[in-house]
Amino acid sequence: MDPAVFAYDMERVFRRHWHCLAHESVIPNPGDFELFRLGDEQIILTRDMQGQIHALLNSCRHRGAEVCTKEKGNAKMFVCPYHAWTYTLDGALRAARLMPKDFDRAAHALKKVHVRLAEGLVFISFASEPLDFSQVEQSLRASCGQYGWGEARVAHRETYPIAANWKLAVENYVECYHCGPAHPEYSQTHALEQPPEVIADMNAAMEARSCALGLSVLSGNHWQNSAMGQEAIDVFRYALYEGASTGSEDGSPLAPLMGRFTDYDGGVTSIHLGGTTFLVCYPDHGMIYRFIPKSHDSCEMELIWLVHKDAVETVDYDPAKLTWLWKVTTEEDKKIIEHTARGVRSHYFEPGPIAPMEYNELRYISWYLDEVSRP
Ligand code: FES
Ligand code: FE
Repeated sequence: MDPAVFAYDMERVFRRHWHCLAHESVIPNPGDFELFRLGDEQIILTRDMQGQIHALLNSCRHRGAEVCTKEKGNAKMFVCPYHAWTYTLDGALRAARLMPKDFDRAAHALKKVHVRLAEGLVFISFASEPLDFSQVEQSLRASCGQYGWGEARVAHRETYPIAANWKLAVENYVECYHCGPAHPEYSQTHALEQPPEVIADMNAAMEARSCALGLSVLSGNHWQNSAMGQEAIDVFRYALYEGASTGSEDGSPLAPLMGRFTDYDGGVTSIHLGGTTFLVCYPDHGMIYRFIPKSHDSCEMELIWLVHKDAVETVDYDPAKLTWLWKVTTEEDKKIIEHTARGVRSHYFEPGPIAPMEYNELRYISWYLDEVSRP
């Protein structure tokens, strides 16, 4: 609730860690661009004429105006609307009117942030020396790679504005203690409140089915603080209820199988990556959850649905069915996060104990506290 803490979060967590910005299929052609807003920053994601992706800061090197004023499109150049300095798709300053002869254009390119592509996902880091990304790349290859995310395309995107601090939204995402009471639809297919031995049996049966399909989706826990210079990633797998194939209203298939999957294994692969990126892989679609801090008391969640690149809308999948479960679930989450944001404003609020089922939340909180308290 304190703007000063938000500024500190931005410095210690947001500008230190990697964030998934998009799936690269949103800018498929040379000249394509899209604008992304994160906190006070705006990134123009571009694909240059050679096909390379760049993440440019949307702040003119003259007097700082927004250079790109369109949300999305295709362009050869960006012409600043103020005094018409003109930049190419890789940020180079091509022209600056009426400037002295000795003006150094090369020294006034748009600033860029670091970009990495992994399994079709575009990641950015604002850090001057970004955290090592190699462990993340390996983990994503062994998980999303099996689900063919590199050859996927975006089927749908939905942004949910949330009147709450970004950490309340992330905390809600990482725990499923609330899933039973708050998400009756999700709880039909995703096994949650079963005793550990039942869950262990279900997971073993799921791994046997994956194995029989010749698949091995690797789990791996590299959830760590940034002290060692590495980005954090945790990949874990769990089974759906017996008979459920995917994350749909009744568990039945939604879209053509992706990647190396030739049949459903009844499993889900879930990935927590850095401070703001969460991924869910089903055999026939993928989900990207982006948490976007806006201010001390507002944030956004963007949900991105991925399908096989050749899947044709309405022929191979019904978009309403594809998006149903996570739309319903996220509307419910938005409400409970906002109820919480109002509830914790009470002068008398004292945090209660974390339940055993909230172990991932506890892990996230400890990680966050470590990130903000370490020099
Ligand atoms: Fe962009 Fe002057 S602020 S050209
Ligand atoms: Fe939820």
